[in-house]
Amino acid sequence: MKDLDRKVAELSKRRGFFSQTAEAYGGVAGFQTFGPEGAELKRNIENSWRAKFSDELGNREIEAPTIMPEAVFEASGHLDTFDDMIVRCPECGESSRADHIVEDNTELDEAEGLSTEKIEELFQEHDLECPECGESLAGEKVEDFHLMFETTIGPDSGNRGYLRPETAQGIFVEFPRFKDYERGQLPFGITQIGKSYRNEISPRKGLVRVRELTQAELEHFIDPEEDRPPMDEVEDVELKLYSRERQSEKGDLQRLTVRESVEEGVIESEWIAYFLGIATEWYRSIGVDMERFRYRQHQNDELSHYASDCWDAEADVSALGEEEDWIEITGFAYRGCYDLKKHHEHSEEDYTVFKEYDEPVEEEVTEVSPDMAFLGPEYGDKAGEIAEALQEKAEENPEAFEQDEIAVEVEGEEYSIPSERCGFERKTVTKNGEHILPHVVEPSFGIDRMVYTILAHSYDEDEVDGEERTVMRFDEEVAPTEVAVFPLMDKEGLGEKAREVADMLRSEGLSVKYDDTGNIGKRYRRQDEVGTPYCVTIDYDTLEEEPETVTVRDRDSTEQERVRIDELAEHLS
Ligand code: GAP
Repeated sequence: MKDLDRKVAELSKRRGFFSQTAEAYGGVAGFQTFGPEGAELKRNIENSWRAKFSDELGNREIEAPTIMPEAVFEASGHLDTFDDMIVRCPECGESSRADHIVEDNTELDEAEGLSTEKIEELFQEHDLECPECGESLAGEKVEDFHLMFETTIGPDSGNRGYLRPETAQGIFVEFPRFKDYERGQLPFGITQIGKSYRNEISPRKGLVRVRELTQAELEHFIDPEEDRPPMDEVEDVELKLYSRERQSEKGDLQRLTVRESVEEGVIESEWIAYFLGIATEWYRSIGVDMERFRYRQHQNDELSHYASDCWDAEADVSALGEEEDWIEITGFAYRGCYDLKKHHEHSEEDYTVFKEYDEPVEEEVTEVSPDMAFLGPEYGDKAGEIAEALQEKAEENPEAFEQDEIAVEVEGEEYSIPSERCGFERKTVTKNGEHILPHVVEPSFGIDRMVYTILAHSYDEDEVDGEERTVMRFDEEVAPTEVAVFPLMDKEGLGEKAREVADMLRSEGLSVKYDDTGNIGKRYRRQDEVGTPYCVTIDYDTLEEEPETVTVRDRDSTEQERVRIDELAEHLS
Protein backbone atom coordinates (compact mmCIF):
# COMPACT_ATOMS: atom_id res chain seq x y z
CA MET A 1 0.00 0.00 0.00
CA LYS A 2 1.35 3.42 -0.91
CA ASP A 3 1.78 6.09 1.74
CA LEU A 4 -1.18 8.24 0.67
CA ASP A 5 -3.42 5.17 0.30
CA ARG A 6 -2.56 4.16 3.83
CA LYS A 7 -3.15 7.63 5.25
CA VAL A 8 -6.48 8.11 3.44
CA ALA A 9 -7.67 4.65 4.54
CA GLU A 10 -6.65 5.26 8.15
CA LEU A 11 -8.26 8.71 8.31
CA SER A 12 -11.39 7.46 6.52
CA LYS A 13 -11.93 4.73 9.07
CA ARG A 14 -11.19 6.96 12.09
CA ARG A 15 -13.24 9.93 10.96
CA GLY A 16 -16.26 8.22 9.39
CA PHE A 17 -15.63 8.46 5.66
CA PHE A 18 -15.61 4.76 4.78
CA SER A 19 -14.52 1.39 6.12
CA GLN A 20 -14.78 -2.24 5.15
CA THR A 21 -18.27 -3.71 5.58
CA ALA A 22 -18.97 -6.20 8.39
CA GLU A 23 -15.50 -6.07 9.93
CA ALA A 24 -17.07 -7.52 13.08
CA TYR A 25 -17.33 -10.77 11.08
CA GLY A 26 -13.95 -10.53 9.39
CA GLY A 27 -15.08 -8.14 6.65
CA VAL A 28 -15.90 -8.92 3.09
CA ALA A 29 -13.61 -7.81 0.29
CA GLY A 30 -15.08 -5.39 -2.22
CA PHE A 31 -17.81 -3.96 0.02
CA GLN A 32 -17.39 -0.65 1.83
CA THR A 33 -19.72 1.20 4.17
CA PHE A 34 -19.79 4.99 3.97
CA GLY A 35 -19.84 6.54 7.44
CA PRO A 36 -21.59 9.84 8.26
CA GLU A 37 -18.89 12.06 6.69
CA GLY A 38 -18.38 9.78 3.67
CA ALA A 39 -22.09 9.39 2.96
CA GLU A 40 -22.52 13.18 3.05
CA LEU A 41 -19.46 13.71 0.82
CA LYS A 42 -20.79 11.11 -1.64
CA ARG A 43 -24.28 12.68 -1.62
CA ASN A 44 -22.78 16.11 -2.26
CA ILE A 45 -20.83 14.77 -5.26
CA GLU A 46 -23.96 13.04 -6.58
CA ASN A 47 -26.06 16.18 -6.12
CA SER A 48 -23.47 18.30 -7.85
CA TRP A 49 -23.35 15.77 -10.72
CA ARG A 50 -27.16 15.78 -10.92
CA ALA A 51 -27.24 19.59 -11.00
CA LYS A 52 -24.72 19.63 -13.86
CA PHE A 53 -25.46 16.58 -16.00
CA SER A 54 -29.23 16.34 -15.49
CA ASP A 55 -30.61 19.77 -14.68
CA GLU A 56 -28.21 22.19 -16.35
CA LEU A 57 -27.88 20.16 -19.56
CA GLY A 58 -31.66 19.71 -19.74
CA ASN A 59 -31.66 15.93 -19.32
CA ARG A 60 -34.11 13.80 -17.29
CA GLU A 61 -33.25 11.37 -14.51
CA ILE A 62 -34.81 7.93 -14.09
CA GLU A 63 -34.54 5.07 -11.62
CA ALA A 64 -34.52 1.46 -12.82
CA PRO A 65 -34.21 -1.75 -10.74
CA THR A 66 -30.80 -3.19 -9.94
CA ILE A 67 -31.91 -6.71 -10.95
CA MET A 68 -32.80 -7.44 -14.56
CA PRO A 69 -33.92 -10.62 -16.30
CA GLU A 70 -31.36 -12.68 -18.21
CA ALA A 71 -32.83 -11.69 -21.58
CA VAL A 72 -31.65 -8.09 -21.10
CA PHE A 73 -28.02 -9.16 -20.67
CA GLU A 74 -28.27 -11.74 -23.42
CA ALA A 75 -29.25 -8.92 -25.76
CA SER A 76 -26.71 -6.41 -24.40
CA GLY A 77 -23.83 -8.88 -24.87
CA HIS A 78 -22.84 -8.88 -21.17
CA LEU A 79 -23.70 -12.55 -20.79
CA ASP A 80 -21.09 -13.49 -23.39
CA THR A 81 -18.41 -10.88 -22.90
CA PHE A 82 -18.41 -9.39 -19.40
CA ASP A 83 -15.32 -11.28 -18.20
CA ASP A 84 -11.95 -10.59 -16.65
CA MET A 85 -8.89 -12.86 -16.71
CA ILE A 86 -8.22 -14.87 -13.58
CA VAL A 87 -5.20 -16.86 -12.41
CA ARG A 88 -5.20 -19.00 -9.26
CA CYS A 89 -2.08 -19.47 -7.17
CA PRO A 90 -1.26 -23.20 -6.67
CA GLU A 91 0.45 -22.39 -3.35
CA CYS A 92 -1.83 -20.01 -1.41
CA GLY A 93 -5.00 -20.40 -3.49
CA GLU A 94 -5.37 -16.63 -3.99
CA SER A 95 -7.18 -15.57 -7.20
CA SER A 96 -5.76 -12.56 -9.02
CA ARG A 97 -6.48 -10.46 -12.10
CA ALA A 98 -3.99 -11.96 -14.55
CA ASP A 99 -3.78 -8.83 -16.73
CA HIS A 100 -3.03 -6.65 -13.69
CA ILE A 101 -0.09 -8.88 -12.70
CA VAL A 102 1.28 -8.40 -16.21
CA GLU A 103 0.76 -4.60 -16.10
CA ASP A 104 2.35 -4.30 -12.64
CA ASN A 105 5.45 -6.34 -13.52
CA THR A 106 6.28 -5.75 -17.19
CA GLU A 107 6.67 -2.80 -19.56
CA LEU A 108 3.09 -3.34 -20.79
CA ASP A 109 0.73 -0.59 -19.60
CA GLU A 110 -2.48 -2.21 -20.86
CA ALA A 111 -2.94 -5.98 -20.90
CA GLU A 112 -6.75 -6.17 -20.61
CA GLY A 113 -7.24 -6.60 -24.35
CA LEU A 114 -4.80 -9.53 -24.72
CA SER A 115 -5.93 -13.14 -25.11
CA THR A 116 -5.66 -15.60 -22.20
CA GLU A 117 -3.02 -17.52 -24.23
CA LYS A 118 -0.89 -14.39 -24.67
CA ILE A 119 -1.14 -13.65 -20.93
CA GLU A 120 -0.02 -17.24 -20.17
CA GLU A 121 2.98 -16.70 -22.48
CA LEU A 122 3.87 -13.48 -20.64
CA PHE A 123 3.65 -15.30 -17.29
CA GLN A 124 6.20 -17.82 -18.62
CA GLU A 125 8.43 -15.25 -20.29
CA HIS A 126 8.69 -12.98 -17.20
CA ASP A 127 8.33 -15.73 -14.60
CA LEU A 128 5.57 -13.72 -12.94
CA GLU A 129 4.67 -14.39 -9.32
CA CYS A 130 1.60 -14.48 -7.11
CA PRO A 131 1.19 -10.97 -5.62
CA GLU A 132 0.06 -12.56 -2.35
CA CYS A 133 2.73 -15.19 -1.58
CA GLY A 134 5.42 -14.81 -4.27
CA GLU A 135 4.95 -18.33 -5.73
CA SER A 136 5.77 -18.58 -9.45
CA LEU A 137 2.68 -18.48 -11.68
CA ALA A 138 4.56 -19.54 -14.84
CA GLY A 139 2.67 -22.41 -16.45
CA GLU A 140 -0.58 -21.70 -14.55
CA LYS A 141 -3.84 -21.59 -16.48
CA VAL A 142 -5.33 -18.15 -17.18
CA GLU A 143 -9.12 -18.24 -17.64
CA ASP A 144 -12.04 -15.90 -18.31
CA PHE A 145 -14.10 -15.22 -15.19
CA HIS A 146 -17.66 -13.91 -15.52
CA LEU A 147 -18.26 -10.75 -13.48
CA MET A 148 -22.05 -10.59 -13.16
CA PHE A 149 -23.74 -11.71 -9.92
CA GLU A 150 -26.43 -14.23 -10.79
CA THR A 151 -29.72 -14.75 -8.95
CA THR A 152 -33.17 -16.25 -9.50
CA ILE A 153 -36.32 -14.17 -9.59
CA GLY A 154 -39.26 -15.49 -7.53
CA PRO A 155 -39.53 -18.66 -5.41
CA ASP A 156 -39.03 -22.11 -7.01
CA SER A 157 -38.10 -20.26 -10.11
CA GLY A 158 -35.91 -21.08 -13.05
CA ASN A 159 -36.25 -17.42 -14.01
CA ARG A 160 -32.62 -16.34 -13.98
CA GLY A 161 -31.72 -12.73 -13.30
CA TYR A 162 -28.54 -10.71 -12.78
CA LEU A 163 -27.56 -7.74 -10.68
CA ARG A 164 -26.88 -5.05 -13.24
CA PRO A 165 -23.19 -4.47 -14.01
CA GLU A 166 -23.94 -0.95 -15.33
CA THR A 167 -26.94 1.31 -14.77
CA ALA A 168 -27.03 1.97 -18.52
CA GLN A 169 -29.04 -1.13 -19.51
CA GLY A 170 -31.94 0.07 -17.33
CA ILE A 171 -32.08 3.10 -19.62
CA PHE A 172 -31.57 1.34 -22.96
CA VAL A 173 -34.18 -1.34 -22.38
CA GLU A 174 -36.87 1.31 -21.71
CA PHE A 175 -35.91 3.43 -24.72
CA PRO A 176 -39.30 2.91 -26.49
CA ARG A 177 -40.99 4.55 -23.46
CA PHE A 178 -38.49 7.42 -23.29
CA LYS A 179 -38.66 8.22 -27.01
CA ASP A 180 -42.46 8.53 -26.66
CA TYR A 181 -42.00 10.71 -23.57
CA GLU A 182 -39.70 12.92 -25.65
CA ARG A 183 -42.26 12.83 -28.51
CA GLY A 184 -39.70 11.20 -30.79
CA GLN A 185 -37.46 14.30 -30.82
CA LEU A 186 -33.70 13.77 -30.83
CA PRO A 187 -31.33 14.58 -29.25
CA PHE A 188 -32.23 13.89 -25.62
CA GLY A 189 -30.44 12.58 -22.58
CA ILE A 190 -31.50 10.25 -19.78
CA THR A 191 -29.47 10.08 -16.57
CA GLN A 192 -29.39 7.67 -13.69
CA ILE A 193 -27.46 7.47 -10.42
CA GLY A 194 -27.51 4.08 -8.77
CA LYS A 195 -25.82 0.90 -7.66
CA SER A 196 -24.15 -1.56 -10.03
CA TYR A 197 -22.53 -4.87 -9.15
CA ARG A 198 -19.42 -6.60 -10.42
CA ASN A 199 -17.96 -9.74 -8.89
CA GLU A 200 -14.43 -8.33 -9.16
CA ILE A 201 -11.61 -10.89 -8.94
CA SER A 202 -9.37 -8.73 -6.79
CA PRO A 203 -11.03 -5.75 -5.11
CA ARG A 204 -8.43 -3.18 -4.10
CA LYS A 205 -7.69 0.17 -2.56
CA GLY A 206 -10.82 0.72 -0.52
CA LEU A 207 -13.22 2.43 -2.90
CA VAL A 208 -11.27 2.01 -6.13
CA ARG A 209 -12.28 -1.52 -7.07
CA VAL A 210 -15.41 -2.62 -5.22
CA ARG A 211 -18.05 -5.24 -5.91
CA GLU A 212 -20.98 -2.93 -5.20
CA LEU A 213 -20.44 0.48 -6.77
CA THR A 214 -22.41 3.63 -7.52
CA GLN A 215 -22.46 4.90 -11.06
CA ALA A 216 -23.80 8.18 -12.43
CA GLU A 217 -24.47 7.69 -16.11
CA LEU A 218 -25.79 9.86 -18.90
CA GLU A 219 -27.05 8.17 -22.05
CA HIS A 220 -27.30 10.84 -24.71
CA PHE A 221 -29.35 9.77 -27.75
CA ILE A 222 -28.51 11.51 -31.02
CA ASP A 223 -29.17 11.39 -34.73
CA PRO A 224 -25.57 10.91 -35.89
CA GLU A 225 -26.22 12.68 -39.19
CA GLU A 226 -28.05 15.75 -37.93
CA ASP A 227 -27.32 16.49 -34.28
CA ARG A 228 -24.35 18.60 -33.26
CA PRO A 229 -23.36 19.54 -29.70
CA PRO A 230 -23.41 23.22 -28.63
CA MET A 231 -19.62 23.45 -28.99
CA ASP A 232 -19.49 27.21 -28.38
CA GLU A 233 -20.30 26.56 -24.70
CA VAL A 234 -17.01 24.71 -24.13
CA GLU A 235 -14.80 25.27 -27.18
CA ASP A 236 -12.08 27.11 -25.24
CA VAL A 237 -11.87 24.67 -22.35
CA GLU A 238 -8.39 23.12 -22.25
CA LEU A 239 -8.16 19.32 -22.25
CA LYS A 240 -5.13 17.24 -21.25
CA LEU A 241 -5.24 14.39 -23.74
CA TYR A 242 -3.26 11.16 -23.93
CA SER A 243 -4.26 9.73 -27.28
CA ARG A 244 -3.85 6.15 -28.46
CA GLU A 245 -0.94 7.23 -30.70
CA ARG A 246 0.84 9.14 -27.92
CA GLN A 247 0.55 6.09 -25.64
CA SER A 248 2.04 3.80 -28.29
CA GLU A 249 4.95 6.21 -28.80
CA LYS A 250 5.28 6.67 -25.01
CA GLY A 251 4.90 10.39 -25.81
CA ASP A 252 3.66 13.31 -23.74
CA LEU A 253 0.15 14.52 -23.08
CA GLN A 254 -1.28 17.10 -25.45
CA ARG A 255 -2.94 20.26 -24.13
CA LEU A 256 -5.62 21.24 -26.63
CA THR A 257 -8.85 23.18 -26.40
CA VAL A 258 -12.06 21.28 -27.07
CA ARG A 259 -12.29 22.95 -30.49
CA GLU A 260 -8.64 22.15 -31.39
CA SER A 261 -9.01 18.52 -30.30
CA VAL A 262 -11.73 18.05 -32.92
CA GLU A 263 -10.15 20.18 -35.64
CA GLU A 264 -6.82 18.36 -35.31
CA GLY A 265 -8.60 14.99 -35.39
CA VAL A 266 -7.33 13.91 -31.96
CA ILE A 267 -10.92 13.32 -30.80
CA GLU A 268 -13.06 11.91 -33.57
CA SER A 269 -16.52 12.58 -32.14
CA GLU A 270 -17.54 16.19 -31.50
CA TRP A 271 -19.94 14.86 -28.86
CA ILE A 272 -17.18 13.16 -26.91
CA ALA A 273 -15.06 16.35 -27.07
CA TYR A 274 -18.05 18.41 -25.91
CA PHE A 275 -18.68 16.16 -22.90
CA LEU A 276 -14.97 16.20 -21.98
CA GLY A 277 -15.24 20.00 -21.92
CA ILE A 278 -18.35 19.94 -19.71
CA ALA A 279 -16.81 17.33 -17.39
CA THR A 280 -13.49 19.24 -17.09
CA GLU A 281 -15.32 22.25 -15.67
CA TRP A 282 -17.29 20.01 -13.32
CA TYR A 283 -14.25 18.12 -11.97
CA ARG A 284 -12.57 21.47 -11.29
CA SER A 285 -15.67 22.81 -9.52
CA ILE A 286 -15.74 19.94 -7.02
CA GLY A 287 -12.05 20.06 -6.16
CA VAL A 288 -10.29 17.52 -8.40
CA ASP A 289 -6.65 18.63 -8.71
CA MET A 290 -6.43 19.24 -12.47
CA GLU A 291 -2.63 18.99 -12.31
CA ARG A 292 -3.13 15.31 -11.44
CA PHE A 293 -5.72 14.64 -14.10
CA ARG A 294 -5.83 13.56 -17.78
CA TYR A 295 -8.02 12.00 -20.46
CA ARG A 296 -6.62 8.73 -21.86
CA GLN A 297 -7.99 7.14 -25.01
CA HIS A 298 -8.63 3.40 -25.02
CA GLN A 299 -6.42 1.25 -27.21
CA ASN A 300 -8.45 -0.67 -29.82
CA ASP A 301 -8.07 -3.99 -27.99
CA GLU A 302 -9.13 -2.36 -24.72
CA LEU A 303 -12.52 -1.13 -25.94
CA SER A 304 -15.66 -2.66 -24.42
CA HIS A 305 -17.78 -4.79 -26.74
CA TYR A 306 -20.24 -1.91 -27.27
CA ALA A 307 -17.85 0.99 -27.87
CA SER A 308 -16.23 2.26 -31.06
CA ASP A 309 -14.21 4.89 -29.18
CA CYS A 310 -13.68 5.69 -25.51
CA TRP A 311 -11.75 8.26 -23.51
CA ASP A 312 -11.25 7.70 -19.78
CA ALA A 313 -10.91 10.52 -17.28
CA GLU A 314 -8.04 9.45 -15.05
CA ALA A 315 -6.78 10.88 -11.75
CA ASP A 316 -3.35 10.33 -10.26
CA VAL A 317 -3.97 9.42 -6.62
CA SER A 318 -0.34 9.07 -5.54
CA ALA A 319 1.31 11.44 -3.08
CA LEU A 320 3.86 13.99 -4.23
CA GLY A 321 7.15 12.18 -4.85
CA GLU A 322 5.54 8.70 -5.07
CA GLU A 323 5.32 6.74 -8.31
CA GLU A 324 2.25 7.91 -10.30
CA ASP A 325 -0.93 5.93 -9.66
CA TRP A 326 -3.58 6.63 -12.30
CA ILE A 327 -7.13 5.41 -11.73
CA GLU A 328 -10.02 5.59 -14.18
CA ILE A 329 -12.80 7.73 -12.75
CA THR A 330 -15.08 8.13 -15.79
CA GLY A 331 -15.48 6.52 -19.21
CA PHE A 332 -16.70 8.62 -22.15
CA ALA A 333 -17.80 6.03 -24.71
CA TYR A 334 -19.23 6.35 -28.20
CA ARG A 335 -21.64 3.38 -28.15
CA GLY A 336 -23.12 4.03 -31.61
CA CYS A 337 -26.41 2.20 -32.15
CA TYR A 338 -25.02 -1.03 -30.59
CA ASP A 339 -27.37 -1.26 -27.61
CA LEU A 340 -30.59 -0.05 -29.23
CA LYS A 341 -30.00 -2.34 -32.22
CA LYS A 342 -29.49 -5.35 -29.94
CA HIS A 343 -32.67 -4.67 -27.93
CA HIS A 344 -34.55 -3.95 -31.19
CA GLU A 345 -33.48 -7.34 -32.56
CA HIS A 346 -33.96 -9.38 -29.37
CA SER A 347 -37.26 -7.94 -28.12
CA GLU A 348 -40.70 -7.35 -29.55
CA GLU A 349 -40.44 -3.58 -29.27
CA ASP A 350 -39.46 -0.87 -31.71
CA TYR A 351 -36.26 0.96 -30.73
CA THR A 352 -36.19 3.17 -33.82
CA VAL A 353 -37.15 6.81 -34.07
CA PHE A 354 -39.09 8.18 -37.02
CA LYS A 355 -37.04 10.92 -38.64
CA GLU A 356 -39.20 13.23 -40.69
CA TYR A 357 -37.63 14.80 -43.79
CA ASP A 358 -37.79 18.58 -44.26
CA GLU A 359 -39.43 17.91 -47.63
CA PRO A 360 -41.09 14.69 -48.80
CA VAL A 361 -38.88 12.76 -51.25
CA GLU A 362 -39.83 10.65 -54.24
CA GLU A 363 -38.16 7.27 -54.28
CA GLU A 364 -38.21 4.41 -56.75
CA VAL A 365 -38.91 1.09 -55.06
CA THR A 366 -39.05 -2.46 -56.40
CA GLU A 367 -41.71 -4.83 -55.08
CA VAL A 368 -43.12 -8.29 -55.71
CA SER A 369 -46.65 -9.53 -55.12
CA PRO A 370 -46.18 -13.27 -55.80
CA ASP A 371 -49.07 -15.43 -57.01
CA MET A 372 -49.71 -17.37 -53.79
CA ALA A 373 -52.39 -19.47 -55.53
CA PHE A 374 -49.46 -20.86 -57.50
CA LEU A 375 -46.71 -20.88 -54.81
CA GLY A 376 -48.93 -22.51 -52.15
CA PRO A 377 -49.86 -25.73 -53.98
CA GLU A 378 -46.43 -25.91 -55.64
CA TYR A 379 -44.12 -25.38 -52.61
CA GLY A 380 -46.34 -26.10 -49.58
CA ASP A 381 -45.03 -24.77 -46.25
CA LYS A 382 -42.03 -23.16 -47.99
CA ALA A 383 -44.27 -20.79 -50.01
CA GLY A 384 -44.16 -17.94 -47.45
CA GLU A 385 -40.37 -18.01 -47.15
CA ILE A 386 -40.01 -18.14 -50.94
CA ALA A 387 -42.21 -15.01 -51.21
CA GLU A 388 -39.97 -13.24 -48.66
CA ALA A 389 -36.83 -14.31 -50.52
CA LEU A 390 -38.31 -12.93 -53.76
CA GLN A 391 -38.95 -9.55 -52.08
CA GLU A 392 -35.36 -9.46 -50.81
CA LYS A 393 -34.08 -10.24 -54.29
CA ALA A 394 -36.30 -7.51 -55.78
CA GLU A 395 -34.66 -4.97 -53.47
CA GLU A 396 -31.09 -6.20 -53.85
CA ASN A 397 -30.97 -7.24 -57.50
CA PRO A 398 -34.02 -6.02 -59.47
CA GLU A 399 -32.25 -6.83 -62.79
CA ALA A 400 -32.64 -10.55 -61.98
CA PHE A 401 -36.35 -10.21 -62.70
CA GLU A 402 -35.60 -9.62 -66.39
CA GLN A 403 -34.99 -13.42 -66.67
CA ASP A 404 -37.77 -15.98 -67.32
CA GLU A 405 -36.95 -17.87 -64.12
CA ILE A 406 -35.96 -16.26 -60.80
CA ALA A 407 -33.67 -18.32 -58.57
CA VAL A 408 -33.96 -17.91 -54.78
CA GLU A 409 -32.46 -19.87 -51.90
CA VAL A 410 -34.44 -20.94 -48.84
CA GLU A 411 -32.73 -22.90 -46.06
CA GLY A 412 -29.90 -23.95 -48.40
CA GLU A 413 -32.21 -25.20 -51.17
CA GLU A 414 -32.63 -23.44 -54.50
CA TYR A 415 -36.04 -22.76 -56.05
CA SER A 416 -36.71 -21.41 -59.57
CA ILE A 417 -39.89 -19.35 -59.86
CA PRO A 418 -41.37 -18.36 -63.24
CA SER A 419 -41.11 -14.56 -63.48
CA GLU A 420 -44.79 -14.16 -64.49
CA ARG A 421 -45.72 -15.62 -61.06
CA CYS A 422 -43.61 -13.06 -59.14
CA GLY A 423 -45.68 -9.92 -59.73
CA PHE A 424 -42.51 -7.81 -59.92
CA GLU A 425 -42.96 -4.06 -60.36
CA ARG A 426 -41.03 -0.83 -60.04
CA LYS A 427 -42.92 2.12 -58.67
CA THR A 428 -42.35 5.61 -57.35
CA VAL A 429 -43.42 6.33 -53.78
CA THR A 430 -43.42 9.52 -51.73
CA LYS A 431 -41.58 9.21 -48.41
CA ASN A 432 -42.04 11.66 -45.55
CA GLY A 433 -39.21 10.24 -43.46
CA GLU A 434 -37.45 7.08 -42.29
CA HIS A 435 -36.94 5.00 -39.15
CA ILE A 436 -33.44 5.33 -37.71
CA LEU A 437 -31.65 3.82 -34.74
CA PRO A 438 -30.24 6.69 -32.65
CA HIS A 439 -26.59 6.64 -31.60
CA VAL A 440 -25.57 6.87 -27.95
CA VAL A 441 -22.81 8.96 -26.38
CA GLU A 442 -22.20 7.90 -22.81
CA PRO A 443 -20.36 9.70 -20.02
CA SER A 444 -20.24 7.09 -17.22
CA PHE A 445 -18.93 8.25 -13.82
CA GLY A 446 -17.85 5.97 -10.98
CA ILE A 447 -18.95 7.83 -7.84
CA ASP A 448 -16.91 5.70 -5.40
CA ARG A 449 -13.76 6.53 -7.35
CA MET A 450 -14.78 10.19 -7.43
CA VAL A 451 -15.07 10.10 -3.63
CA TYR A 452 -11.65 8.43 -3.39
CA THR A 453 -10.08 10.99 -5.76
CA ILE A 454 -11.53 13.91 -3.81
CA LEU A 455 -10.21 12.37 -0.57
CA ALA A 456 -6.73 11.79 -2.04
CA HIS A 457 -6.55 15.21 -3.73
CA SER A 458 -7.85 17.06 -0.65
CA TYR A 459 -5.55 15.33 1.84
CA ASP A 460 -2.87 17.66 3.19
CA GLU A 461 -0.52 17.97 6.14
CA ASP A 462 0.86 21.24 7.49
CA GLU A 463 1.96 22.84 10.73
CA VAL A 464 -0.16 25.10 12.91
CA ASP A 465 1.26 26.77 16.02
CA GLY A 466 4.21 24.38 15.91
CA GLU A 467 1.96 21.31 15.74
CA GLU A 468 1.49 19.00 12.78
CA ARG A 469 -2.06 18.84 11.51
CA THR A 470 -3.91 16.79 8.89
CA VAL A 471 -6.42 18.77 6.89
CA MET A 472 -8.84 17.79 4.17
CA ARG A 473 -9.01 20.79 1.85
CA PHE A 474 -12.43 19.97 0.41
CA ASP A 475 -14.05 22.39 -1.93
CA GLU A 476 -17.04 24.02 -0.22
CA GLU A 477 -19.31 22.51 -2.89
CA VAL A 478 -18.70 18.99 -1.53
CA ALA A 479 -17.51 19.43 2.09
CA PRO A 480 -19.66 17.08 4.22
CA THR A 481 -19.97 19.60 7.03
CA GLU A 482 -20.05 23.26 6.10
CA VAL A 483 -19.82 24.83 9.55
CA ALA A 484 -18.95 23.52 12.99
CA VAL A 485 -20.28 25.43 16.00
CA PHE A 486 -18.52 25.24 19.36
CA PRO A 487 -19.22 26.81 22.73
CA LEU A 488 -15.93 27.66 24.45
CA MET A 489 -17.32 25.50 27.28
CA ASP A 490 -20.72 24.02 27.89
CA LYS A 491 -21.55 26.21 30.86
CA GLU A 492 -22.75 29.66 31.91
CA GLY A 493 -25.11 29.91 28.96
CA LEU A 494 -22.41 29.34 26.30
CA GLY A 495 -23.78 25.91 25.32
CA GLU A 496 -27.36 27.24 24.96
CA LYS A 497 -26.17 30.15 22.83
CA ALA A 498 -24.08 27.83 20.64
CA ARG A 499 -27.02 25.46 20.09
CA GLU A 500 -29.17 28.46 19.18
CA VAL A 501 -26.57 29.61 16.62
CA ALA A 502 -26.26 26.06 15.20
CA ASP A 503 -30.07 25.81 14.79
CA MET A 504 -30.21 29.23 13.15
CA LEU A 505 -27.52 28.20 10.61
CA ARG A 506 -29.29 24.89 9.93
CA SER A 507 -32.52 26.75 9.25
CA GLU A 508 -30.56 28.74 6.64
CA GLY A 509 -29.82 25.47 4.84
CA LEU A 510 -26.23 24.97 6.00
CA SER A 511 -24.90 21.60 7.08
CA VAL A 512 -23.84 22.17 10.70
CA LYS A 513 -22.04 20.09 13.33
CA TYR A 514 -22.30 21.06 17.01
CA ASP A 515 -19.38 19.97 19.19
CA ASP A 516 -18.68 20.75 22.84
CA THR A 517 -16.30 17.90 23.74
CA GLY A 518 -12.58 18.37 24.47
CA ASN A 519 -10.56 21.56 24.28
CA ILE A 520 -11.04 23.99 21.41
CA GLY A 521 -7.71 23.06 19.80
CA LYS A 522 -8.74 19.39 19.59
CA ARG A 523 -12.16 20.36 18.19
CA TYR A 524 -10.47 22.44 15.47
CA ARG A 525 -8.21 19.47 14.58
CA ARG A 526 -11.22 17.14 14.33
CA GLN A 527 -13.00 19.51 11.97
CA ASP A 528 -9.83 20.03 9.92
CA GLU A 529 -9.60 16.26 9.46
CA VAL A 530 -13.14 16.09 8.06
CA GLY A 531 -12.56 19.19 5.96
CA THR A 532 -15.08 21.58 7.54
CA PRO A 533 -14.39 24.98 5.95
CA TYR A 534 -15.51 27.14 8.93
CA CYS A 535 -15.63 26.81 12.70
CA VAL A 536 -17.72 29.23 14.73
CA THR A 537 -16.91 29.71 18.41
CA ILE A 538 -19.20 31.20 21.02
CA ASP A 539 -17.20 32.73 23.89
CA TYR A 540 -17.81 35.08 26.81
CA ASP A 541 -17.56 38.14 24.54
CA THR A 542 -20.54 36.75 22.62
CA LEU A 543 -22.70 37.02 25.69
CA GLU A 544 -21.42 40.45 26.65
CA GLU A 545 -21.29 42.31 23.34
CA GLU A 546 -24.18 44.08 21.74
CA PRO A 547 -24.77 43.29 18.89
CA GLU A 548 -23.67 39.71 19.63
CA THR A 549 -20.59 38.44 17.81
CA VAL A 550 -18.76 35.12 17.37
CA THR A 551 -15.35 34.11 16.03
CA VAL A 552 -15.21 32.48 12.61
CA ARG A 553 -12.11 30.43 11.88
CA ASP A 554 -11.07 29.63 8.31
CA ARG A 555 -9.91 26.02 7.84
CA ASP A 556 -7.15 26.72 5.32
CA SER A 557 -5.58 29.90 6.68
CA THR A 558 -6.63 29.17 10.31
CA GLU A 559 -7.24 32.93 10.63
CA GLN A 560 -10.06 34.08 12.85
CA GLU A 561 -12.37 37.06 12.59
CA ARG A 562 -15.30 38.37 14.63
CA VAL A 563 -18.63 38.40 12.89
CA ARG A 564 -22.04 39.62 14.09
CA ILE A 565 -24.48 36.75 14.68
CA ASP A 566 -27.21 38.51 12.74
CA GLU A 567 -24.84 38.64 9.73
CA LEU A 568 -23.31 35.19 10.23
CA ALA A 569 -25.44 33.12 7.82
CA GLU A 570 -24.94 35.60 5.01
CA HIS A 571 -21.24 35.90 5.82
CA LEU A 572 -20.77 32.12 5.64
CA SER A 573 -22.79 31.51 2.52
N1 GAP B 1 -21.83 1.99 -18.72
C1 GAP B 1 -20.45 2.01 -19.00
C2 GAP B 1 -19.62 1.46 -17.92
O1 GAP B 1 -20.13 0.87 -16.98
P1 GAP B 1 -17.15 1.21 -17.14
O2 GAP B 1 -15.91 1.86 -17.66
O3 GAP B 1 -17.15 -0.25 -17.00
O4 GAP B 1 -18.30 1.69 -18.11
C3 GAP B 1 -17.75 3.26 -15.61
O5 GAP B 1 -17.53 1.86 -15.74
C4 GAP B 1 -17.09 3.77 -14.37
O6 GAP B 1 -17.51 3.02 -13.24
C5 GAP B 1 -15.57 3.64 -14.37
O7 GAP B 1 -14.97 4.74 -15.01
C6 GAP B 1 -15.25 3.60 -12.89
O8 GAP B 1 -15.14 4.91 -12.38
C7 GAP B 1 -16.46 2.94 -12.30
N2 GAP B 1 -16.19 1.53 -11.96
C8 GAP B 1 -16.20 0.46 -12.78
N3 GAP B 1 -15.93 -0.67 -12.11
C9 GAP B 1 -15.73 -0.32 -10.82
C10 GAP B 1 -15.42 -1.02 -9.61
N4 GAP B 1 -15.31 -2.34 -9.59
N5 GAP B 1 -15.28 -0.32 -8.46
C11 GAP B 1 -15.42 1.02 -8.45
N6 GAP B 1 -15.73 1.74 -9.56
C12 GAP B 1 -15.88 1.10 -10.72
